Amino acid sequence: MRVLVTGGAGYIGSHTLLELMAQGHDVCVLDNYSNATPEVLNRVRGLSNGNVTDFTGDVRDPAILNRVMQDFRPEAVIHFAGLKAVGESEEKPLLYYDVNVGGTLALLHAMDRVGCKNIIFSSSATVYGEPVYLPYDEAHPTAPMSVYGQSKLMAENILTNWAKATAGTSAVLLRYFNPVGAHHSAKIGEDPKDIPNNLMPFIAQVAVGKRDALTVFGEDYDTPDGTGLRDYIHVVDLARAHVAAINYADKSTGARPFNIGTGQSYSVRDMVAAFERACGSPIKTKQAPRRAGDIAAMQADASRAAAELGWTAEHGLDDMTASTWAWQSANPNGYDN
Ligand code: WQD
Repeated sequence: MRVLVTGGAGYIGSHTLLELMAQGHDVCVLDNYSNATPEVLNRVRGLSNGNVTDFTGDVRDPAILNRVMQDFRPEAVIHFAGLKAVGESEEKPLLYYDVNVGGTLALLHAMDRVGCKNIIFSSSATVYGEPVYLPYDEAHPTAPMSVYGQSKLMAENILTNWAKATAGTSAVLLRYFNPVGAHHSAKIGEDPKDIPNNLMPFIAQVAVGKRDALTVFGEDYDTPDGTGLRDYIHVVDLARAHVAAINYADKSTGARPFNIGTGQSYSVRDMVAAFERACGSPIKTKQAPRRAGDIAAMQADASRAAAELGWTAEHGLDDMTASTWAWQSANPNGYDN
């Protein structure tokens, strides 16, 4: 199929391009490079048959969207383009709603103009909020605590209403848990701008000597070692879930959410120990109080994705840390090397 990938130069997008092309799909990228660099697509072309069409522009811009739709005629869209920093979303709510919600609206209008009927949406497990029960299944109540999480849930609701009202359309809502790791080539990986918000890239930057120590946010949670538990998923497994979702969307109609996680959670200290095994040296840490907005534990029930998408995660914790270390040590300054 011809698949448009918005935000395709990003961390998850770039890994998904490789998996799509490996399955014979034709891919086109729309990215404004607000949180990525064109060098990523050079790396992707070097790791594949190289047939990546790309457009530079903002997913909120009807003119660029119309041009992409007319030129590439996508049969499906994977919508990654969006903002994802939880803390920043609290400081800039209108920007997050404009991009994450407004961008989704603009994209759907453009799809309708050319009759494109399949969309895979990059959602997040943060739509669930404080767990009423664990592991989260897709029936768990949704009560996001951050603007970021609310913007994702609003977009999910728009997609759900669009799919219900528009004949023959399919919207697959992938609720990611915690993406980590890198492609085995170590040519692409996570390259956050500024100071990493997320745990794994911060640990990796400590290991490579770019940061002095990891701050462990809270050791008084109701968890086995007192630190936060998360369901980390290898980015290649996550990318493969999008390929499975494309196949599902092509044979189904309506909107449907899927948890994309492993069902196994690890603590901060588990991750530090696993990374020390991968890099062969100690990771310096310092203790701090809990981070505002954090919850104690998250864990996915991903049985629906297994049953209906035919997808399950295959990479374990050591793959996650070893591939992150291979990427970070080969690219100490990310794509700015
Ligand atoms: C994981 C654990 C922290 C950094 C967020 C978004 C989610 C997704 C992934 C976009 C927690 C602890 C972290 C650090 C630490 N984003 N931690 N020191 O908050 O679970 O999820 O990022 O798609 O939607 O909500 O991920 O990696 O920030 O934190 O101790 O320097 O590591 O307290 O327990 P999080 P995270």
